[in-house]
Amino acid sequence: MAIPRPVFRPPFNMTRASHVVLAVKDLKESKRFYVDALGFVVSSEDENRLYLRGLEEGCHHSLVLEQGGKPSAQHIGFRVLTEEDLDAAEAFFRDLGHRPTWVEVPHQARTLRVSDAAGVPLDICASMETRPRLILQSSRFSGACPQRLDHFQILTPHVDRALEFYTRLGFRLSEYITQDGSEEPSFVFLQRKGNPHDIVFAPGPGPGPLLHHAAFTIPETYHLMFICDLLAEMGFGRSVEYGPARHFAPGYARFVYLRDPDGHRIELFNTHYQTIDIEDEPLKWEMAKVLAGGWGPPPPQSWMTEAAPFGAAE
Ligand SMILES: [Fe+2]
Repeated sequence: MAIPRPVFRPPFNMTRASHVVLAVKDLKESKRFYVDALGFVVSSEDENRLYLRGLEEGCHHSLVLEQGGKPSAQHIGFRVLTEEDLDAAEAFFRDLGHRPTWVEVPHQARTLRVSDAAGVPLDICASMETRPRLILQSSRFSGACPQRLDHFQILTPHVDRALEFYTRLGFRLSEYITQDGSEEPSFVFLQRKGNPHDIVFAPGPGPGPLLHHAAFTIPETYHLMFICDLLAEMGFGRSVEYGPARHFAPGYARFVYLRDPDGHRIELFNTHYQTIDIEDEPLKWEMAKVLAGGWGPPPPQSWMTEAAPFGAAE
């Protein structure tokens, strides 16, 4: 498909990637990984759910862990700017035949639930409860010092559909990867908030979408190394899957990918760049050059093929 032209006046104002909900087998062990090791802040918790946020986040949660029988991804969340945008989103998705529903979600204002064109379950709201930003509370910084949620990566056989769909919602293609001399974008990096991506779509086996990773920013490259040492000390050494290294590829980030106790993949990274201006055109990368570039070993097979299914917790 041709690269679609950006839509500068979308039907409603979706502003950013907001939160992700993951089903886990053992909430206590997940808390040890995400809170005691990585350093996420607990906004609230009960027997079945752990609501976490990063140190710079003023909203209630960006990562929700739900006790469930089978590890899976439940939803990815996006924010719209106002309640009027939420109503416009509901009308837009209904006209498109996507059957949006209103749901009650703890700590969130009115929430719209709908699937995107790749079948990814979305949780969309205009606001949620607030909590203090802890940017200046140095005593609360620990582990990797996660700052905020930045983006998601999804595997799907329908990258072309997803590109067309999110472009209609006002997302702009910052970068894309082509394969085997084709002009066809096979990896697409889409953004609303003015940095390289809020959501990435990459080829997947199907039929349903898979969550490859959710990514959180960290303050310093040093924390990528420190968190690996700390995870090893805490018995989570094998959770370090890929990196620390640098993407000589879309986003340019310095990163490390971790697998949590249920196999959910979390990326910690820094060094993204700003892309807002109208003359910022999508940047094309060829896969052969991505794989040949940079330094260090290529991603392991697990990173290339493993990802979490979306589905209800059992
Ligand atoms: Fe990423």
